[in-house]
Amino acid sequence: MAAQGRTAAKIVILTGAGISAESGLGTFRDEGGLWAQHRIEDVATPEGFARNPLLVHDFYNARRAQAAEALPNAAHAALARLQREHPGEVILVTQNVDGLHEKAGAAAVHMHGALEGALCAACGTRWQAPLVMRPDVPCPHCARPATRPDIVWFGEMPYFMDEIAEHLESCDIFAAIGTSGQVYPAAGFVQEAAYAGAHTVELNLSDSDTSRSFAEHRVGPASRIVPLWVEEILSQ
Ligand code: APR
Repeated sequence: MAAQGRTAAKIVILTGAGISAESGLGTFRDEGGLWAQHRIEDVATPEGFARNPLLVHDFYNARRAQAAEALPNAAHAALARLQREHPGEVILVTQNVDGLHEKAGAAAVHMHGALEGALCAACGTRWQAPLVMRPDVPCPHCARPATRPDIVWFGEMPYFMDEIAEHLESCDIFAAIGTSGQVYPAAGFVQEAAYAGAHTVELNLSDSDTSRSFAEHRVGPASRIVPLWVEEILSQ
């Protein structure tokens, strides 16, 4: 509990693919990662989807099936515990689409969408995706066959940016876990938070592109270093 007369810290946490690596889900840019096996322009852009929607659905259907089988690890569990037990606000922003934060019992802001979402490219209606999605499935609202995964692709605007900016401006601690710092706007969050006066900490297996912007570094696998970091915060 916070000492009397002190307000509890507001914490904003950004997570990336590295937090789910030990749950068996490959990252994007580590050796042998997803972007070594697939071309971004084919499977993660609106243009790629327009060219070959079946290929794009196959890619996300496979990832959805893998994520459905995956279990959260100790890092996801620790963040859920932090959200439950920290007396101040804990805002979890994730670039991940795997749903493992929710499986661990946390609430996350999904800035890059979610594998379990379907989106009508014609009218914008969202609904729960079936395990296997197809482009010719009619939208439940407008009936047009324009079903796409509710995933933010390259060239598209991430979700909840205004809300996230407000949290970054008002947080006391900003942590980035398991993200390479190569994709904006998420890669710029550390600077926004630091500018607003927050203490910044990076938790990663190795250096990221934005490591130099962080005041503190914790190095190691997420399943080991995140529970330790959470324990420290809760015992302060
Ligand atoms: N524990 C902690 N960190 C790890 C672990 C681990 N066990 N394994 C890998 N990492 C770190 C790597 O060191 C790297 O910095 O996770 C990071 C993974 O980086 P990326 O593969 O680039 O994933 P991410 O940063 O989440 O990618 C951002 O790129 O293609 C898009 O939309 C996609 O949301 C994704 C975005």
